[in-house]
Amino acid sequence: MNDRISETVRTAKKITIAAGRPYDVRIGAGLIDALGVVTASACPGAARAMLVADDTVDALYGDRAAASLCTAGLSVSRFSFPHGEGSKTLSTYAQLLNALTEAQLSRADVLVALGGGVTGDLTGFAAATYLRGVRFVQAPTTLLAAVDSSVGGKTAVDLPAGKNLVGAFHQPSAVALDTDTFATLPDDTFADGMAEAIKTGVIGDEALFDLLAHGRPAALDSAVARCVEIKGEIVRLDERDTGMRQLLNLGHTVGHAAELLSDFGISHGHAVAIGMAVMARAARAAGLCAADVPARIEAALRSSGLPVDCPFHADALAKAIVQDKKRKADSIVLVIPERIGHCALRPTPLDALVGFLTAGVGGAAL
Ligand code: NAD
Ligand code: GLY
Repeated sequence: MNDRISETVRTAKKITIAAGRPYDVRIGAGLIDALGVVTASACPGAARAMLVADDTVDALYGDRAAASLCTAGLSVSRFSFPHGEGSKTLSTYAQLLNALTEAQLSRADVLVALGGGVTGDLTGFAAATYLRGVRFVQAPTTLLAAVDSSVGGKTAVDLPAGKNLVGAFHQPSAVALDTDTFATLPDDTFADGMAEAIKTGVIGDEALFDLLAHGRPAALDSAVARCVEIKGEIVRLDERDTGMRQLLNLGHTVGHAAELLSDFGISHGHAVAIGMAVMARAARAAGLCAADVPARIEAALRSSGLPVDCPFHADALAKAIVQDKKRKADSIVLVIPERIGHCALRPTPLDALVGFLTAGVGGAAL
């Protein structure tokens, strides 16, 4: 390992995720050039790597990532696909599996997801299922993937009926999070990540929320690290999402419905922002949260250029929610922001959903 790479790895912040099989998240500048070292040390015995990236990220960072993997002694193949949620499909998944067989990846080998949440979810699902499971490494390049999707082992692709309807729990072997990659993010994509980061503050840490409440914080790396710590702790306590991990879905029930109803014209992070604002207003109207919650959440989201008004009526949202996989029999678990830094899970009968959401949607909806 050359001196620069070893210094990059040494100075990166390291957070261990205490999942059933623990792994390290490294956070720091320049880590793409250390991706090979991180991958080889987390995946001993791997000889081949499949580097997966969408076309945008491949053009920006693919060559550096591939060079780093090669220098670490791995034989590298590459798979690239058109960027965007529209590629998180069974069709792209099948193309990736075919690429893995063509490259003769064995069970000892490794997939590397270089990109945002779409790339991480797709690559992770291929890794979970190819040859009944191979190792993979996450190299997130969006803020959203950094603070949320690269950690915790939820992998999936979408079906026409809804998001993430086919998937698996499969933890990465390591996460190498190069904070320099945020420099090339378009403003809207950066804002998507701010929505998930603000969500993490609302769920578990008022100080984190305050750090994020005025837009991009000066101490962005610390905020990212704090989000990873909070998510890691939730994953440690409920890796399989049978209880408290559902807190991470704050804003997602309405958010996924808004994504579906907009035919994915509204991005995931923007939809989560709308969902959080709706839930805060609805919770306030139902007397379920502190008085300051809606205004503080709305102000924080607006400071990051995120939407807070919902363009859909409550009954349209409720219909889309009924399709969602989080539906259980005749009720649904809603995440209620009781105060900033603390949320609660509240099972809600489906027939009470429209009434509850109406107060949160307000009068501006279509
Ligand atoms: P994304 O992966 O589509 O990336 C957004 C856009 O940013 C893409 O066009 C991509 O090409 C571009 N991009 C990525 N990195 C870049 C960079 N450094 N510079 C310039 N452009 C860059 O979307 P996303 O917002 O990262 O992730 C959303 C997805 O994540 C959704 O599918 C969502 O369901 C999923 N998700 C999963 C989890 C989980 O726990 N698995 C959690 C949250 C979200
Ligand atoms: N993003 C939700 C979860 O990881 O559970």
